[in-house]
Amino acid sequence: MAIAVVAGASGGVGAALVRALREQGGFEEVVTLSRTGEPAFDITDEASIAAAAQALAGRDVRLVIDATGFLHDERFQPEKNLRQLDPEHMLHSFKVNAMGPALMMKHFLPLCPREGRFVFATLSARVGSIGDNKLGGWHSYRASKAALNQFMRTSAVELSRTRPHAICVSLHPGTVDTRMSQVFAKQGLDVRPPAVAAADLLRVIETLTPQQTGGFFDYKGEVVPF
Ligand SMILES: NC(=O)c1ccc[n+]([C@@H]2O[C@H](COP(=O)([O-])OP(=O)(O)OC[C@H]3O[C@@H](n4cnc5c(N)ncnc54)[C@H](OP(=O)(O)O)[C@@H]3O)[C@@H](O)[C@H]2O)c1
Repeated sequence: MAIAVVAGASGGVGAALVRALREQGGFEEVVTLSRTGEPAFDITDEASIAAAAQALAGRDVRLVIDATGFLHDERFQPEKNLRQLDPEHMLHSFKVNAMGPALMMKHFLPLCPREGRFVFATLSARVGSIGDNKLGGWHSYRASKAALNQFMRTSAVELSRTRPHAICVSLHPGTVDTRMSQVFAKQGLDVRPPAVAAADLLRVIETLTPQQTGGFFDYKGEVVPF
């Protein structure tokens, strides 16, 4: 009786992932975690992450997707240059995009069963790739996603020692039409509907093998350079 978990289920991509997983029917239950859920799940609050994982102890968790993330809000806009760097903005980006998912790995990876398929996927972003950064800007988002990828990789290495069958990866969903991208999605960019992005991501997740754990992949399954 396999369980899937989606954190950030209130977001554009997260909600589409939940819908797609429920439509596909491969899991007995799709557990949703969000700030507006009951109990509330806040990725900046370790106690709420720990409680969410604890509630699933002993259950057959086979898939965990972290679809939380932060780019902008009414307080903070992505930086265009160094002059705009602000410690509060940097801190908030790191809390949501890097530290929170790292703490999710701390509390959710121990739920990995001793045998059989298990995937933990965190939604990163191609702009978090250091090797691919040719445009600059968006300092806090880029750096926090790069940190996320390092947390993911380090956790994947550790997990593989006791769970060689487990898969822990970062995924880039592409540019998706959500709250996060609405302000920035320029014409000409390939902006995809959340349902399409979710279907692509689930297809990639299905085809991943344990040999690919610790990797960073886009929605087509292609490797993104760190
Ligand atoms: N959309 C794109 O074009 C794009 C491109 C590359 C990567 N990504 C990545 O894909 C993921 C999903 O993004 P999206 O486009 O679906 O964005 P979104 O619609 O803005 O959703 C973001 C999600 O993160 C949640 N979140 C933010 N702060 C949180 C906190 N403190 N605790 C718990 N949840 C929190 C939001 O919850 P609330 O509803 O409570 O605010 C929401 O569920 C993110 O990691 C993003 O960086 C997106």
